[in-house]
Amino acid sequence: MDVTIIVPTFNESLNVEELVTRTEAAVGRRAVEIVFVDDSTDDTPRVIEQVASRHSIPVRLIHREVPVDGLGGAVLEGFRVASGRWAVVMDGDLQHPPEMLPGLIDTALAGDAEVVAGSRFLEGGSAEGLSDGLRVFLSHFGNGITKLLFPRKLRNSTDPMSGFFAVRLDAIDLSVLKPRGFKILLEILCRKQMKLAEVPAILAPRGGGESKADVKQVWRLTRQIVELRIGRMPGFALIGFIGGVANLVIMWALQKAGWTYLEAAIAAAVITIVGNFIAQEHFLYHDLRAGARKLWWRFGHSAGFNAIESAVRTFVLWAAVELLHLHNHTVLTQGVLLLIGFLLRYTYHERVVYKQ
Ligand code: GDD
Ligand code: MN
Repeated sequence: MDVTIIVPTFNESLNVEELVTRTEAAVGRRAVEIVFVDDSTDDTPRVIEQVASRHSIPVRLIHREVPVDGLGGAVLEGFRVASGRWAVVMDGDLQHPPEMLPGLIDTALAGDAEVVAGSRFLEGGSAEGLSDGLRVFLSHFGNGITKLLFPRKLRNSTDPMSGFFAVRLDAIDLSVLKPRGFKILLEILCRKQMKLAEVPAILAPRGGGESKADVKQVWRLTRQIVELRIGRMPGFALIGFIGGVANLVIMWALQKAGWTYLEAAIAAAVITIVGNFIAQEHFLYHDLRAGARKLWWRFGHSAGFNAIESAVRTFVLWAAVELLHLHNHTVLTQGVLLLIGFLLRYTYHERVVYKQ
């Protein structure tokens, strides 16, 4: 199977028949299956089964009795059960006209991209189906904000909120995708640097039934973006903090055992540097190790940067206190410098040590 088309559905019984018919006609002889991931409370699952039996394109139905994480969770479930090399995500309400499938699929199968996204904002695309001016505004606003927050990862994307896209399944790690929001494409593009191609896409008006989007989605999207942006920072801070405490405990214990304070300090530093690195590798960046530089390179750059950062920080502390006469505020000054140092170390690990 080349492609699994994942169609999340929530009460879309009015649209299923037309969707399958048009999809079958559009994909022609391509090796494609449709997987409906359904959370409906109406007769949609029954309709899907009937429609499936009347068509020759393979159609599977996953009905979730306990829907986890709504639309995003449904799409992830689709990724899990897909048998295609590629997954295409397409709405079940005909807002993504199935006639766009050949363009998307052929671009995916022929090129070297890992994600091919349908974009409403490319020449030839359109967002006519956005029901009102407010949604058009929110859509552009959301686009602008996310591109500002993720300049590198989204630099090739004109429509990271699109719900119509293809992804090569061996290029994503399902365990790091958090699907709480509506926006799975955004999640995929921001968790890891992906090779992206775009094709123009049309967002048509909805078929039958009504949209499930509401103000809650704006809140969910905001949370999703915050979570994506903050990323591993809390974990990084926690490991750093535990390392600091461990350093003091080791120093105390070694002095108890008869070492001088300088010997104890050096040993504590070496142990915590190695310990921090191991914790980072195993708990924080385990999913990025495979795509990053070699182990020794990562260790050298991680430990090296930390050592330089603390040396420079101590020098800056001295310079700041002397030049700016901060003798009464040395602890506060050190606090500010520690915070800056933390942000620098975090950025360096994200951008250099574990660069993909
Ligand atoms: N399984 C499942 N579970 N499917 C759901 C759920 C859910 O909780 N909520 C919605 N869906 C399905 C709908 O049945 C439909 O097929 C598709 O997901 C999109 O839902 P709509 O309610 O039509 O959302 P929309 O049109 O506002 O949003 C679409 O356009 C946005 C771009 O403006 C989606 O494609 C978004 O992903 C996209 O960002
Ligand atoms: Mn819709």
